[in-house]
Amino acid sequence: MFTNLRNKEIIIAVTGGIAAYKTCELVRELTKRGASVHVVMTKNATQFVSPLTFQTLSGHPVIHEMFQLFTGPKIGHIALSDIADQMVIVPATANIIGKIANGIADDFLTTMVMATTVPVLFVPSMNTKMWESKIVQMNIQRLKEAGYELMEPGVGDLACGTKGKGRLPPIPDIIEKMEDIFTEKDLSGERVVVTAGPTIEYIDPVRCITNRSSGKMGYAIAKIARRRGAETTLISGETYLPPPRSDINFVKVRTAIEMKEAVMRFFEDATIIIKAAAVADFRCKKESIKKIKKNDEEDLYVLELEKNPDILGDLGKIKGNRILVGFAAETENLVENAYEKLKKKNLDIIVANNVAKEGIGFGSDMNEVTIIDAQGRVKHVPKMSKEEIANIILDSVKRTIKKRKKREDDWL
Ligand code: PMT
Repeated sequence: MFTNLRNKEIIIAVTGGIAAYKTCELVRELTKRGASVHVVMTKNATQFVSPLTFQTLSGHPVIHEMFQLFTGPKIGHIALSDIADQMVIVPATANIIGKIANGIADDFLTTMVMATTVPVLFVPSMNTKMWESKIVQMNIQRLKEAGYELMEPGVGDLACGTKGKGRLPPIPDIIEKMEDIFTEKDLSGERVVVTAGPTIEYIDPVRCITNRSSGKMGYAIAKIARRRGAETTLISGETYLPPPRSDINFVKVRTAIEMKEAVMRFFEDATIIIKAAAVADFRCKKESIKKIKKNDEEDLYVLELEKNPDILGDLGKIKGNRILVGFAAETENLVENAYEKLKKKNLDIIVANNVAKEGIGFGSDMNEVTIIDAQGRVKHVPKMSKEEIANIILDSVKRTIKKRKKREDDWL
């Protein structure tokens, strides 16, 4: 699993809201990622979930009383603040938001937050009317101005029987935000366009030509690019994946023609384009608008195909200063074939993967790739998760940008 949370000391501060039970799942997920999790609860939070539950899930004692001291020379809240890499208040009630925004430190949790210099993330959850109230919004604003990190609550059914804004955001979104906080924003200022998934070329309303691309490789690149601070657009063919994080501009397409139109729409503004999609090279010359009837008399049905645009090849002709990254799905002579594609399509980088190899490439969570640059330098990346591969590809992109900048500076 690709994560910045491994070996980090995380304080989860639980306050008294019904969503406290969801925090159990968060603690489990964080420990799965190798984080060391310490739970602190307000008195009210213990009415919703027992400290024993959190102690069992985190493997550490749970602090829920002001004068529950740590062993050692330091006072409890200072000791915990000192070891922490990040604190997350989840769920954050209107009460805790109000207290911290106004400098009130009257229990263990609030004194601990006052005593820390590490990032503190508030994950609010409450009734819609409370969330929308002027005073809560004023306090939220104060917290932002004081440099605290905040997530917006989700929208939907609330425990109080109403619908609206106030739900605890989904656990994966909270983890992604925590990862974000730990990630250096070395791609900020870049505008990245990523393509992912298969295209579908219709034969008739029920039949189509497509391929086995799941979209996982492209989605991983978009996610890590966003995490590293790039403004990111993901143009995706039909997949079964959940939509990407909400701060990624997400464009859904079906056919190669639609993908080309979408790519061209975002091309002008892009600084980096990464084409991980598996685009069908051909489409039906005549797509039937009615379902084609089976003819019992004939054993052969001939489909006439015509070439789809080569989106990447077309981009290579007009790319200007943009960094253009292609993928190469190969089954033999990986490096030679990929490098030929790089030259032919005028790319800066090509990422070759052997799609005939078991356990990587199409559909898998893992990949193994060879990254080749325009100077013919070759880097083999062994089998690892697609998110790790995405991070390494983006490192190569970053190096290419730096080298280009250095050449420009040297010339001046
Ligand atoms: O989606 P996953 O299940 O995670 O699988 C990932 C993957 C195997 C699909 C991915 O790693 C990958 O290899 N993507 C490129 C697949 C492909 O179409 O390769 P190609 O060698 O046929 O094409 C070369 C490049 O040209 C690709 O960047 C492709 O996006 C682009 N292309 C191809 C044809 C076309 N008409 N237009 C294009 O832009």
